[in-house]
Amino acid sequence: MSNYHIKSLEEYFQVYRKSVQNPERFWEEIAEENFMWRKRWDNVLSYDLNKPEVSWFEGAKLNITENCIDRHLYTKGDKTAIIFEPNGPSQKAVHITYNQLYERVCKFANVLKSQGIKKGDRVCIYLPMIPELAVSVLACARIGAIHSVVFAGFSATALATRINDCDCKMVLTSDGSFRGNKTIDLKGIVDEALLSCNGVDTVLVVNRINSEIEMKEGRDQWLQPLLDNAQVQCEPEIMAAEDPLFILYTSGSTGKPKGMVHSTAGYMVYTGYTFKNVFQYREDDIYWCTADIGWITGHSYIVYGPLANGATTVMFEGVPNYPDWGRFWEIVEKHKINQFYTAPTAIRALAKENLDFVEKYDLSSLKILGTVGEPINEEAWHWYNDNIGNKQSPIVDTWWQTETGGIMISPIPFSTPTIPTYATLPLPGIQPALMDENGEELTGNQVSGRLCIKFPWPAMARTIWGNHARYKETYFSAYPNRYFTGDGAMRNSTGYYRITGRVDDVIIVSGHNLGTAPIEDAINEHPAVAESAIVGFPHEIKGSALYGFVILKETGESRSHDNLRKEINQIITEHIGPIAKLDKIQFTNGLPKTRSGKIMRRILRKIAGKDTSNLGDTSTLLNPEVVEDIMRNVL
Ligand code: WT7
Repeated sequence: MSNYHIKSLEEYFQVYRKSVQNPERFWEEIAEENFMWRKRWDNVLSYDLNKPEVSWFEGAKLNITENCIDRHLYTKGDKTAIIFEPNGPSQKAVHITYNQLYERVCKFANVLKSQGIKKGDRVCIYLPMIPELAVSVLACARIGAIHSVVFAGFSATALATRINDCDCKMVLTSDGSFRGNKTIDLKGIVDEALLSCNGVDTVLVVNRINSEIEMKEGRDQWLQPLLDNAQVQCEPEIMAAEDPLFILYTSGSTGKPKGMVHSTAGYMVYTGYTFKNVFQYREDDIYWCTADIGWITGHSYIVYGPLANGATTVMFEGVPNYPDWGRFWEIVEKHKINQFYTAPTAIRALAKENLDFVEKYDLSSLKILGTVGEPINEEAWHWYNDNIGNKQSPIVDTWWQTETGGIMISPIPFSTPTIPTYATLPLPGIQPALMDENGEELTGNQVSGRLCIKFPWPAMARTIWGNHARYKETYFSAYPNRYFTGDGAMRNSTGYYRITGRVDDVIIVSGHNLGTAPIEDAINEHPAVAESAIVGFPHEIKGSALYGFVILKETGESRSHDNLRKEINQIITEHIGPIAKLDKIQFTNGLPKTRSGKIMRRILRKIAGKDTSNLGDTSTLLNPEVVEDIMRNVL
C-alpha cells in the first residue's frame, strides 16, 4: 500500500490512523518516496506549540524548484506544465511545457541575480495572472529569495504597507493588466506605493498591455531585454528545510496585515501530498483552479502542489463574466478540464445567470469539483452538483487557511461520501479538536465549538514576519498547546466537520478574508468621522457583505450623507482596495457599548442582518437607547 495515493475509504481510515499513531514515520515515508532531496533529514519533527516552534525535516537540503521542474524533465519535458488562458477569449491560449518552464524560470532567476538579489532577500511580486507571475515565484525559489506576492487588486497604500513590512528590495510588476473589458494601471499603483518605500531599489516591469508608462531612471527596467540576455542555466540554491520559502499577507481582526511565513520542505511535502489526494490527480489530467496566485490557494494549488506532481495546471487571466457568464464553461470545454476548483462566491454568481450559459458547453471532461474560501450554502452546492457535475463529479469542500499552507479538512473524492456543506474528514496527519467556551475539548460527536488543531503538520506557517509574539498571541494563546483557527465548527454523528464561519472579527467577503479593524482605521481617517464599527451581513452572492455604522463629528457637516458614503468608500479603496468597500453605511449618534467601552458587535451584527427578534444578553450594555435608535434607522 502506498501512503501517497489514497484510493478508497478503507485505505483513508488506515492511513489516517497511521498518521496519528506515528506522524513522524508517516510523513517521513511520504517525503522519502515522493520528493527529491539533496541531503536527507536528521530529524523528522521537533516542536513545542507553546513557544511556538516547529521544525520539519531538520537537516535536510533541497530546492523546491528541482522538485517542481527539474526532476520532471527526464520523463516529461514536453508535457504541458502551465496552460495560460488570456483575458481576451479570441487570444490564443499558451501551453508552456516543463522544458520551457525550466528555461523561463532559470532565465528569470539569472535576471534576479544580476540585479543583486540573493538568498534570503525579499522580492515583492505585484503581477496579474500571466505566466510571468508563476515564473517569477519559481525564480525566487530557485535562488532562495523569499517571494511576497501581493494580489494585484490591492491599493497603493496596501501594497506599500506590505513592501515595507518585510523590507522588499525589489518589486516585479507589469505596465498594466487586462480585466474583462478594462485595463488597470498597475505600474501607476506601484509608483504611488513606492513614494513611501525607501528600501526598493529595483522595479522590473513586464510589458503586458503595451501602455505608455513612466520609467523612473535608475530604478525601473523592462524585463524582456534582461531576459533576452540571460543564461539558460541556473544552478538551484540549496536550501535548508526550514529556510523561508515565501511570505503571504493575511488580514487579521486587529492592526496591520500579518506576513505569514512558510518554510520550504514541509510546505512542499504537504502541498504535494494534498494536491495528489484531494484532486486524485492522474497523469494527463488537466487541472484548473480559478483562484489568483496572489492568494494562498494559488500558491499551493496553482503553482507548488500541481507542479510538484508534474501536473498540467491552468492559469486564467480574466474574469467569469467576460465576454459573458459562459466563460468558465467555455474554458472547461476548450481545455477538457478534469478537476475544477473555485469559490462559493463564484458559484453563487454563476448560478444567478441563465442556465443557457452552462448548457451551451460540453462539460463531460469534468471528474472532480472543488470549493474553497468560505462555507458553501446548500443551494449553491446543489446547483454546482446538478448543473456542473451532472451529479457525477464529487464535490470536495476543502477547508483551510493562509496559515495552514494546505488543505486540512476535505473529502477524498470517490472515497469519502460527501454531504452538502460538510468539509467532512481531516486529511491524514491533521488532528482537529473542537473546544468549548471554558477551554475544554469537546469529545464525542454532535458537538459544536471552536476549531483547533492539536498536532503540528508540515505546511503550517512558522511565524509572522518580524513579529513572533503576535504569531503566538493570535494562534497559540487561546488554547495552550493547540493552534486556534479562528473558525467555529460542528461535528456530526459520523465525525464529519462542518465549518460554520469565523468566530473573530474577520469577515469573509466574496471569499476574501477582511479584518474589521483595518477598515475602521481607514474610515476614521475621514475628517468628518468620529467613530465607526463594521460588521458582516448575509449577502446572496458575496456570502457576507460589509455594513458600516458611522458616527459623524459634531461639526455641522454640510455634505450630504450620500456624498459622505462615496467618500468613505473612496478612502477604503485607497487604503485597502475595492474589495473592502461597504455595501451599506448607516450614520448614527452612538454605538452599543459595554461598560468597559467595548463595542458590542454581536448586537450590530444582528441588526445589520435584520435578525432582531432576540438580541441575546444585553445586561452589560451601557446605552440601551442607542440600540433602539439604530434599529429604527436600519438600512
Ligand atoms: C478562512 C481562511 C485557504 C483558502 C482561501 C481562504 C474560511 C476557507 C472554507 C471552507 C468554510 C472556509 C475559513 C478560514 N474557509 N475554506 N471550505 N468552508 N469556510 O484563505 O483567506 O486565509 O481564509 O476562510 O473561515 O478560516 P484565507
